[in-house]
Parts: sequence; C-alpha cells; structure tokens
Amino acid sequence: MKNLNTFANQNTFDALNKVCIVTGGSSGIGHALINELQSRKAKKVINIDLKNSNQDNVDYYNCDVGSNDAIKIVFEEIYKKFEHIDLICCNAGIAKDDDGLASEEHWNTIWKTNVLQHINIVRNCISRMVSKKNGWFLITASAAGLLSQVGSATYSTTKHATVGFAEWLSITYGDFGVGVSLLCPQGVNTPMTENIKNGGVAGINGMLEASEVAKITLEEMSKGKFLITPHEVVRKYIKIKAEDPEKWIIGMRKLYKKFVN
Ligand SMILES: NC(=O)c1ccc[n+]([C@@H]2O[C@H](COP(=O)([O-])OP(=O)(O)OC[C@H]3O[C@@H](n4cnc5c(N)ncnc54)[C@H](O)[C@@H]3O)[C@@H](O)[C@H]2O)c1
Repeated sequence: MKNLNTFANQNTFDALNKVCIVTGGSSGIGHALINELQSRKAKKVINIDLKNSNQDNVDYYNCDVGSNDAIKIVFEEIYKKFEHIDLICCNAGIAKDDDGLASEEHWNTIWKTNVLQHINIVRNCISRMVSKKNGWFLITASAAGLLSQVGSATYSTTKHATVGFAEWLSITYGDFGVGVSLLCPQGVNTPMTENIKNGGVAGINGMLEASEVAKITLEEMSKGKFLITPHEVVRKYIKIKAEDPEKWIIGMRKLYKKFVN
C-alpha cells in the first residue's frame, strides 16, 4: 500500500498473506518477530538460524548467515517453494565484550554475522524484488549503531556498519519499490542480555520485552517508517551527539568508567 505519511519508504508493510523470513528466529527478538508476523496472519514464516526452536508452522533452515555460499543455497531452496519473498528480517546477531584488540578470528566471526549477513542476503534476492517492484528488508542494528557500545569495539563497529548499509540500501533501492526499515533498540530482555545485570549500559533507560519490540516494529513498518527506535530516548541522544560530538564523547567516557572500567 502507498505510504501517505512523510516517512522514507514509498509503501507501507502489512504482514497479511506475506511470505516472511526471519534470521535468528530461534531466540529473543527474532522469535518475537515470528510470533508477531504469525499473529498478523503472514502466509508463511521462515526461520534461518544455527539452531532450531521448532515453532509451529515455521519452515526452518539451518544456516550460518555469515556465509554467502550457505545463504545462496538456502535462498535457492526457498525460491523453489515461493515465487516471491515479501519480507526479510535480517536479525541474527552476536554481542561480545572486548577491548577492540581482540583476535582477527574474533573480529571475523562478528563481522560476518553482524555485517556480511545483510550483504549476503540482499545479494541473493534484490534483483527479484526490483523486477517485481516489491519487497521489504527489516535490518536489525542497535542503538549502539547510532551511538556506541561502551565495552565492545566489535559491537559498536559492526552495528555502525549495519546502519550504514541499511541507509545505502534504502537510498539505492527505495525508488524501485523496495522497502527498508532499520531497527535500533537499546536494551531488550533476551538470551543475549540475560547474564548482564539490568542489561548493563544498554539498560540505563530500561529494558523492553522482545514481544514489545516486535509489536512496535511491525506497527512502524505499517506506517512506512525507515528508522525504528523502540526506546524513544535514542532520538534525543542522536540529537545531542550531532549537536556537540566533543561533549558527547566526554559523556560516553563517563559511562565507560561507570560500566566497564
Ligand atoms: N537484546 C538486546 O538488548 C538488543 C538490543 C539491540 C539490538 N539487538 C540486536 O537484535 C538482534 C537479535 O538479538 P537478540 O537479543 O534476540 O539475541 P539472541 O542471542 O537472543 O538471538 C540471536 C539469534 O541469532 C542466531 N545466530 C547467531 N549467529 C548466527 C549466524 N551466524 N547464523 C544464523 N543465526 C545466528 C542465534 O542462534 C540466536 O537464535 C541482534 O542483531 C542484536 O544485535 C539486541
């Protein structure tokens, strides 16, 4: 449906009767997105993950999203079953505390999952979406991709790269009928954060439940929104950062001292 608001996407997204993929759908936010898509009567929901959570009426593919070869095989299989994929939620991700001087192997693993995932997926479906002038990507970054993640160089860097890729994707394909939404939450109660007391620094403005994040996300997509910030305070922080980057860095150092050092 045509977007009549002032949001970046030409169209709006309604899950009814749609074929939807969720990566990382076996846990946390991905699992909640699957539930939300099902409650909105999607035609089929497909989960691509390293582990299976055996959800009802969900097709599952075991696949490492960081591998283009593996993604290519999975998408070829899915396109044999469905002529068109309406929505792809690139949601799988990993978070690790590190000092930034971690090993090459550590960086490679996180880079492939958190960043190359999106490129691998777009590479294997964009030409079909453009030819049909239809399709939507929901790309999960994080508030850390707009601000930072004190205590994790890999998370800060890969989530910034994700924001950059999602912006590029929407700028490049937005006028060809392809929708893009970028999800940037702060702390969410999921297995990713369960061992961090009160969500650590990501939880300073309160933790949301994954089901709330999924609901807000689908609501915002139904209006055609590009940037989705379930914690509204994130928009205030972006303004503060843009207005005075020097002051912002000094403030973030205080958070680093409080939460990490
Ligand atoms: N939980 C939070 O506070 C929070 C906040 C902001 C953004 N995010 C982002 O939301 C997304 C989901 O996070 P979550 O909290 O639900 O995490 P989670 O750990 O609960 O779930 C992540 C899922 O991704 C899967 N996965 C990991 N690597 C994979 C790979 N290489 N290939 C396929 N599947 C893989 C895991 O098996 C798991 O099922 C991530 O991108 C995360 O960075 C989370």
